Order: sequence, then structure tokens, then C-alpha cells
Amino acid sequence: MLTATLSDYLLQRLDRGPGKPVNRQIYRLVRAAVLDGVLSEGLQLPSSRDLARQLKLSRNTVIYAYEQLVAEGYLASRAGAGTYIASTVPDQSPALAPQPQAPAERGASVGLSARGAALVGGAGAHSVQWGAFLPGVPDVTRFPNVIWNRLHSTLWRRSRPEMLSYSSGGGHLPLREAIADYLRVARSVNCHAGQVIITAGIHQSVDLVAKLLADPGERAWVEEPCYWGTHNVLNALNLETVPIPVDADGMTFDEANLRHPPRFIFVTPSHQYPLGSVLSLSRRRKLLEFAAANQAWVVEDDYDSEFRYNGRPLAALQGMDACARVLYLGSFSKTLFPGLRIGYLVVPEALAGAFATGVSELYRGGQVFTQAVLAEFMDKGYFSSHIRRMRILYARRRQLLQDAIGANFGDRLAIAGGDAGLHLTLLLPDDCDDVAVSAQAQQAGIIARALSRYYKHKGAAKKGLLLGYAGVPDELIGPAFERLAAIITRHLP
Ligand SMILES: Cc1ncc(COP(=O)(O)O)c(C=O)c1O
Repeated sequence: MLTATLSDYLLQRLDRGPGKPVNRQIYRLVRAAVLDGVLSEGLQLPSSRDLARQLKLSRNTVIYAYEQLVAEGYLASRAGAGTYIASTVPDQSPALAPQPQAPAERGASVGLSARGAALVGGAGAHSVQWGAFLPGVPDVTRFPNVIWNRLHSTLWRRSRPEMLSYSSGGGHLPLREAIADYLRVARSVNCHAGQVIITAGIHQSVDLVAKLLADPGERAWVEEPCYWGTHNVLNALNLETVPIPVDADGMTFDEANLRHPPRFIFVTPSHQYPLGSVLSLSRRRKLLEFAAANQAWVVEDDYDSEFRYNGRPLAALQGMDACARVLYLGSFSKTLFPGLRIGYLVVPEALAGAFATGVSELYRGGQVFTQAVLAEFMDKGYFSSHIRRMRILYARRRQLLQDAIGANFGDRLAIAGGDAGLHLTLLLPDDCDDVAVSAQAQQAGIIARALSRYYKHKGAAKKGLLLGYAGVPDELIGPAFERLAAIITRHLP
């Protein structure tokens, strides 16, 4: 662009309406023109006096914009040479501009580490985080926000500066106390507040446990199939994950594996994720004995067992542990809402001090104020009554989904894990391509995650679909499943 046309360029774009400072507009327009390559390096600009005259503005207005552009390095000015486009502007030539890439190429070419590329390349989280039949998400629209807001405002009036600072020492003590009280009664966990460490959810708890208790290269047993987040975190820390098959009684133990004890054994004993089995009492005993004899840590991920629909919730494995080998992980993601990002772990007494220090050294967390609101929410009984109400709601939705499955497939397809939690797994025949069903469902606006994707060894993978019902309004369950059933039917042998 010639300098003579800079004034035309600006005249066509300046908005002289009220509340729109013209000096800022000139600054933004020139900056964008430089970044877009419309004004190229070395080009001389009109003097501030000339430009002001051409635009019918005060000279100060133009000077302000020029000075700002000089300060940020877009323009340079030299006595005698006037003002021109500076040479520090990055070259936007097409050869250097980023080219669109296929996702698989992205990791390698942007300089990711091998583990970074593996993490990004095998991404597990769905791009949509709400809708039928997203697993693992409660009905966030039922969260009692009026009560929460009231507690929040009351607390705000008496908030202390420490509540708005970084958290330290394992989190806000009243919340740790409230969680310990709740876990002792509702989950039969043996603990006191000092053993409770507040984190930003189970993902972060897994990261903390792995960083504080293992070194790269050590082995962690994980269930096969397993929640993808556990694999992600452990692999990103260079731990070797050893998939251990599960059956109707939970994790299996075969002699070959028992000969090579790991550092960690990750389990979801109350509601295996994603198949839903419960770790039997004899296997619980065996697991605890084996861990104690081999100095392994058992990490109990108790992510959703508040929601059990037949009978009382099962007691946690941690409560049976006489040798202090279990670390218990819990979360408010399923009981309240995942965006809250508050979870907790209960560590053996001997580790409590190290974990309270480690959590703040590693993450420098905050959210103390939110933790304080949550403590009040629990102390005043709102947490327990919310769970009670949601259990009734989710039981109804689970039934509606089971009815829809029965109406479309009768006994042809079995359901796994329907007794608890926020999802069930619809099993498909071994020769049915569940990934293809899932992809077609997505095109039809339905989330139905493929069971086989949760296996590390794809050859041994069962086929099926994870169907979350908790967040789907009653009236949408039947119609959404009808659409899914049509897709499934096309893939059945
Ligand atoms: C087995 C399991 N553990 C942990 C989580 C995540 O918990 P958080 O949101 O507290 O990180 C999930 C989420 O779906 C899960 O299914």
C-alpha cells in the first residue's frame, strides 16, 4: 500500500461514532495491516501532521497511535527518515505461515515430545461434553444453585484474605473435615481430616499419587478395560501401564502377573469403569494381602459409587485395609458437577504430611473460597439431600434407557453395569464394529462411546457402547435411543 493511500484506507474504516476513540482505532487498523502484510517492512508512513490533516483529526490523536505502535515495535521512527514499518515484524510470507495439518501430523511437527504426541494423538475426551448419551456427566441443570449462591454471598461478607490466596496444607480444613465425616459414614472409609487432601479432581489426584510415590519406568497395573484418563496421566509420567483383564468379579489375578509385583494397582472396585462389575470380597482380600506383602500401593478410584440403585452403596475397599496400602480417590464431578473441579484423596496416615506439602508444591492450587462454600454446603446437609434426589432421578432415567433398549432389541443385546453410576454399557457382538457405530451416531448428533476404545489390547476388546443417561432429560431418552438403535441395527451381523 502506498503511503498516499493510508489515509484512504483509514478513512474507509474509521468509525467516528460516540464512545469509539479514534486514536485506538488507528492503532488497531495499522497494527492489523502490518500483521496481515498489507503494510510491509520499511514502508514509510505519512508524518503525523499530514495524516492528521488528511483525516481531519487533531495531530495529537495520530501521535498517540503512532507512539503506541512504536512502543510495541510495529513502527520505527528516525530523525530525518520519518516513521516507517519496523523490521521486527515477523515475516508472514506464505512459506512461513502455518499450513493446515492433519491431526496425526500435528504432534510431530510442532515439536511435541514422544509422550506429548502420544497423549494428543490418542486423545480420549469427547469434543462435546453435554447431551445424549455422554457418559460420566450428572444432570448439572439440577444443581441447587440458589442455595449455593446464598451460601456464597453469606460467606463472601465474612471472607478473609487467605480465602482468596493460594491454598496450602492439603486444602481448606473445614472441607477436609466435612469430607472425612461424609466418607466415614457413607463409604465406610477409615480416615480423619488430616488424611484428606483436596485436589482438582481425580485426574489430578492420580497425577499427584504417581509423582509422589513412583519414579519413571515403574509399573502400574490398570484394569483392562480402563478409564482413558488414568492411562493418559500414568503414561505421560513414563510409568508402564500393565492392563489386567476384568471379569464379572472385577480385576483378575493370574500367576504370571503376581510374580512381577507393580508399584501401583489402580482399581475401581465399587463400579468397574466402564463395565460396571464389583470387585468380589475374596478378590478384595487377595488384592490387599498381595499389596501388603509386596509393598505395592492400591489406588481405589471411587468415582461414582454414591449412585447405586439396588440396595445400599457398597463399602469402600479402603475400609478393609489393615496395612495402610490403599489410597482412596473421590470427586465431586459426579455428585455435583464436573466443572467444579474439586476432588480429594485419602492417604494413609504416614503419607499425610508429604501429600499436604506435595499438592501445593506441585500445583500451587487455589479455590479456597469455593472449598469454603462447599464445606458449608456439606455441613448444612445440602450435599446429602442432593445426592438422594439425584439417585431417584437417575434411577428413573436408567430405567427409561433400559426400557428403550428392551423395546428395540428385546434380549438380543445384553447390558453391563446398570446397577450403579451414571452410565450403562450396551454389549454388542464381537464382530460388530463399535467404533463405526459410534462415529455414525456422532454424525446423527448422539454420543455413544465405543467400548473397545477403552482397551489397551484391541485384540481382546469387547464390543459395546457406553451410554450415559444421568444428564439426559426423561423425554429425550426414548427418541434418542430410537435413532441410535437404527444405526446399531445396520451394524449387527
Ligand atoms: C473411572 C473414572 N475416574 C475418574 C474420572 C474423572 O474424575 P474427575 O472429574 O474428578 O477428574 C472419571 C470421569 O469420567 C472416571 O470415569
